[in-house]
Amino acid sequence: MSEEYVLQLEHIRKEYPGVVALKDVTLELRKGEILALIGENGAGKSTLIKCCSGAVIPTSGKIIVNGKEYDSMTPQLAAENGIAIIYQEFNNVKELSAAENLFLGRPIKKGIVVDKKAMEREAAKAFEQLRIKINPKTLMKDLTVGYQQMVEIAKAIQQDAKILIMDEPSAPLTSAEVESMFRVVERLRKEGISIIYISHRLEEIYRLSDRILVLRDGEYVKTLQTSESHVQELIKLMVGRELTETYPPRGDCIDKSQVVLEVKDLTGNGDENISLKVHKGEILGLGGLVGAGRTELAEMIFGAAKRQSGQMFINGKEVNPKTPREAIDTGIALVPEDRKRHGAMLGISIKDNINMPIYEKNSTLSVINSKKEVATAEKYRENMAIKTPSLHQLMKNLSGGNQQKVILGRWLAANSELIIFDEPTRGIDVGAKYEIYKIMNDLVEKEGKAILMISSEMEELMGMSDRIVVLSEGKMTGELAKEEFNQEVIMEFASEARTSIEEEKTV
Ligand SMILES: Nc1ncnc2c1ncn2[C@@H]1O[C@H](COP(=O)(O)OP(=O)(O)OP(=O)(O)O)[C@@H](O)[C@H]1O
Ligand SMILES: [Mg+2]
Repeated sequence: MSEEYVLQLEHIRKEYPGVVALKDVTLELRKGEILALIGENGAGKSTLIKCCSGAVIPTSGKIIVNGKEYDSMTPQLAAENGIAIIYQEFNNVKELSAAENLFLGRPIKKGIVVDKKAMEREAAKAFEQLRIKINPKTLMKDLTVGYQQMVEIAKAIQQDAKILIMDEPSAPLTSAEVESMFRVVERLRKEGISIIYISHRLEEIYRLSDRILVLRDGEYVKTLQTSESHVQELIKLMVGRELTETYPPRGDCIDKSQVVLEVKDLTGNGDENISLKVHKGEILGLGGLVGAGRTELAEMIFGAAKRQSGQMFINGKEVNPKTPREAIDTGIALVPEDRKRHGAMLGISIKDNINMPIYEKNSTLSVINSKKEVATAEKYRENMAIKTPSLHQLMKNLSGGNQQKVILGRWLAANSELIIFDEPTRGIDVGAKYEIYKIMNDLVEKEGKAILMISSEMEELMGMSDRIVVLSEGKMTGELAKEEFNQEVIMEFASEARTSIEEEKTV
């Protein structure tokens, strides 16, 4: 074995019934480097790193850690070898404190009693070491996702991890949180910890990584030196073809005479006096920092959260949806931010997931029009390039990004007048992003729908919206017409109502 590498995966193959998730993949991780792992949805990234933790047993291949060769890992072996993984959905217990989560499964004890004080002391030390301000006593549910993730990182460090693997760590974070996470990750690299970093955001890859490993369709494509590679080259290696434009062009299709959605002085769910209009054929972008109240607004419009006052109109007619079911019936659809938690039914097939809202509509019918369902599902599989051997495949067997595409397909199939997209391309690869933008364009341009799009990606917000409304702390702070789009101005509006900078607060 080479002295140089702390971890080597050799000729890894993983087969599932009908799918070869990994074919002869090789990975070498050096001490103290950040190796980015990139590839389209379903390329095999998560499967590969799960081989390192013992969550997946490779069909064949070798795993070499610290000079020792293994056919497969177990969670215990991985821990003994200093391998820690931060998965996309962390397994924390919301009702326990940060300290208790840090020592979950291996509490410090005094005799037979759990020593809470000692755990809090040790947790404080671990947070201190990472220079993050978390009170060890704070309950997990009271921490933002960003801080919850920090607890996960602290846990890995506390367990003396030498190899830290992160699966799309930035996906649920706000831009300020992403910055803090980067600082922590960079500090860990300085301390000699080796990191595998999975992300769909190429700017992050350039900012953080030393080398980049590209997977495509379960196969190893290439490992590049980050400083010597170019974005276009990476995209081509991932997608297998050239992608020149980021946002597909859209014709002028706004019909100002038709207001599809109007909300007047909407108050509730943390928002105050929100008034806005979305016209037929228009994409209205909703900008702001995470926590600005955008998802909360979407939930109110969709009847998933109660509003205290204000009015809502669909095509000029006052509506008052009190449940999502009623909202769907009035022609409103919501593609939620956390698609996995809100809506993906993991135990049923792709086809049934796509047909879900339609399903509910027909729930009184005992015979479901299966042919039509298959056709609908097939259409979205094709449009969004959902990677699966069969539409009858269970949701849980799809890669993270492909599950998102299925949920997106479901809401598009619901055939609504107004579609609210909450972070539509989060966790979705570059090629599929473009396809989703094309679908959004078609919805407004060809089908005359109205779209309300929440996006924390500034480029996407400006690239796709016809108009942008900015929220901050539950209030509307600005509105920009297309010709006024400007990143600094949007950021200013986004932080207008804020009293203190998030990072300075100790939570
Ligand atoms: N338990 C399983 N049963 C069947 N197929 C599976 C299973 N787990 C993963 N797969 C398949 O293996 C392939 C690779 O999936 P993986 O989750 O590793 O992709 P990924 O690169 O992490 O994608 P994403 O960017 O969407 O998270 C996919 O085609 C997926 O459907
Ligand atoms: Mg994945």
